[in-house]
This record gives sequence, C-alpha cells and structure tokens, in this order.
Amino acid sequence: MRILAIDTSCDETAAAVTEDTKLLSNIIWSQASLHAKFGGVMPSLAQRMHEERIDWVINKAIQSSKFKVQSMDLVAVTIGPGLAIALGVGIAKAKELAKKYHKSLIAVNHLEGHLLSCLAQPNTENLKFPALGLVVSGGNTVLVKINKIGSYETLAQTVDDALGEALDKAARMLGLGYPGGAILEEIARDGDPETYKLPIPIAGQEQRKIFTYSGLKSAMYRLVESEKPLTKEKIQNLAVCFQNVAFEHLIRVIRFVINNQSLTINHLFVGGGVSANNELRKRLRKLGKEFGIKILFPYTKKLCGDNAAMIGVAAYFKTLSQQCEKNIDKIDRVPRAKIDTNFV
Ligand code: KG4
Repeated sequence: MRILAIDTSCDETAAAVTEDTKLLSNIIWSQASLHAKFGGVMPSLAQRMHEERIDWVINKAIQSSKFKVQSMDLVAVTIGPGLAIALGVGIAKAKELAKKYHKSLIAVNHLEGHLLSCLAQPNTENLKFPALGLVVSGGNTVLVKINKIGSYETLAQTVDDALGEALDKAARMLGLGYPGGAILEEIARDGDPETYKLPIPIAGQEQRKIFTYSGLKSAMYRLVESEKPLTKEKIQNLAVCFQNVAFEHLIRVIRFVINNQSLTINHLFVGGGVSANNELRKRLRKLGKEFGIKILFPYTKKLCGDNAAMIGVAAYFKTLSQQCEKNIDKIDRVPRAKIDTNFV
C-alpha cells in the first residue's frame, strides 16, 4: 500500500512516501532555527513557513520515492495533536491532493504516528499484544497500554511539562540554544554525574502514575543561578545531572506501572524526539532486561523527531483495520487530540 503522508503539526514541514511499513522517502524541512530566537515555537511563523514550504517538501518526497502522485494508493495527514494553524496547512494540502487525484484521505493521530514509528522496516518484530508504548517528545510524555494497534489506554502522562520541553528549558538555562535536548545530551557526555544532587520528581510516590517536571525545572533554575558564573565544566556537570534525574523519574514511573500490571508484556514501543537520546535508550534497555521486555525504537533517528513517514506507517495499519473516513470534507484538525482519540 503506497501512501503519500503529510505532517505539519508543529515546526517541521514533513512529507513522505511509504509502502506498507517501508519508507520510500522521508523529507523534513525544519523551521527550528527560525523559532530559536523566540526560545520556542511561534505559531503564526510556523503557519507561514509551512505554507511557503509545503509544495516543495511534497514534491521532493514524491520525486525521491521514484513514483508519481497518481500511483499512490492513499493520502494520509496528521490532524492532531498540534498547533491548530500549523495542522491546518497540511490538512488543506492533503485534501486538495486527495480530491485532485481521487484518492482516499486517512486522518492520523500524531501520537499514534510516534508510537508506531518503531514498526517501520527493517524492524519486523513478531508482535504480541498487549504491549506498552511510550511517547517522549517536545509536547508529550505518555505511557500507554496497547491492546492492539489502534486501541490504546493511557497509563501515565505528564501533568505539566513534557520530557523534551523540560530538557529544552534546562538547555536554555545553560545557554545552549533551542531546541536543546540533543545539545544537552552532547554536553552531558563530558559531565560528572556526581557533582550536583537534584531532586527526583515524586520519588517514592510513583503509584501516582504521573510524570512531572516543573519541580525539577525550578530546582535546576535555582541551582544554575547559585552556580553563576557558569564555566564549561559546570555546564557539563549541570547538564548530566539534570538529564539523569529527568530520565530516572521516567524510568521509575514505568517500572512502577510494569510491576503493577497483572499482564504479560513482551514489547515496549518507544517514539518521539527524546527517543533519539542514547542515555535514555540505555536506561530503557536495562529496564527491558529487568522485566524480559523487548524495547522497540525507531530504526533511524530521522523517525524519532517529527516526520511524515511515521504518519504513513500509522495510516497503513489504520487501513488494515479499516479505520478510514470516507467523506474527505469531514476530516478536520483536532489540536488537543489524546493518544486514545481514535480518528475514523
Ligand atoms: O517529537 P519531536 O520532534 O516533537 C514533538 O512532537 O514534540 O520532539 C522534539 C523534542 C525536543 O524537545 C527536542 O529537544 C527533543 O525532542 N530531542 C532530544 C534529542 N533530540 C531531540 N532530547 C534529548 N536527546 C536528544 N538526542
């Protein structure tokens, strides 16, 4: 099943062509450098940039796939969650193409895209359900039970910042630029994890099954202020200490949830921008070993951050289970969609 997929949920203009779970092209035009001076995503700028770039990105995705639009079976598009005015650009373009070329249009949940990104080929796991799923991105931190593909139950989610957002804010405090998650990881490699003690959020209260980063962020702010002026060595140490505590909290909550599930789980699907982090991957694999769970990551880091190939993969699974809206005009943006919002 050949799918032209589009994602404009935040600050990446993305288009891809997929064939079942195989990627034929995956084009991402990132606006991050344009938003950097605002320290976060500026919605009106994101919308304008999507409008300027979308045709170029789609044409490039089609050309790189070596197929023509006419030979696509379907068009797929992210309809939420995300920035409403940014989502609107991709949806309008997807509708235009679907109508012009007489293709069905599949509405996809951006979080489901992140969750299923680990199923893109060459990963070909023999899946067993129920499984667990973790999305760690700039806008979301959520742990779900996957009853089967398309049926998700939220087990734990953030009550304030997302993990990626917290890493970005810590990086900003350290003057490392935006988005800072990947830079923080790089800098943290040379840091000494024993230098500073930051509080692990809700330590001992993991039964609350929440992720929370605002207290850690405030503690980091106070620590950074007290350590000024910052030297390179202090920045490296602060980076590794913050990152370790942020990940430790995530792992503790997941461990609690696994311990308290009376289910046999064989797989943990992991997706989202922060899943590119090697330290996090190491900790998740260790957790996997503890419980005999196989941890599935996207096979390339280009599938971790926002991209459209994951939307194509999710759309493929949706069509297999016939979850498709026949009336294109009914498809609209759902900016606050949750992982268990099932678009038909
Ligand atoms: O999935 P994504 O591209 O956007 C959302 O859907 O939110 O995730 C972006 C987030 C940012 O917070 C970014 O700093 C973080 O992912 N990120 C990382 C790494 N690469 C990207 N965080 C930690 N380590 C990385 N290597």
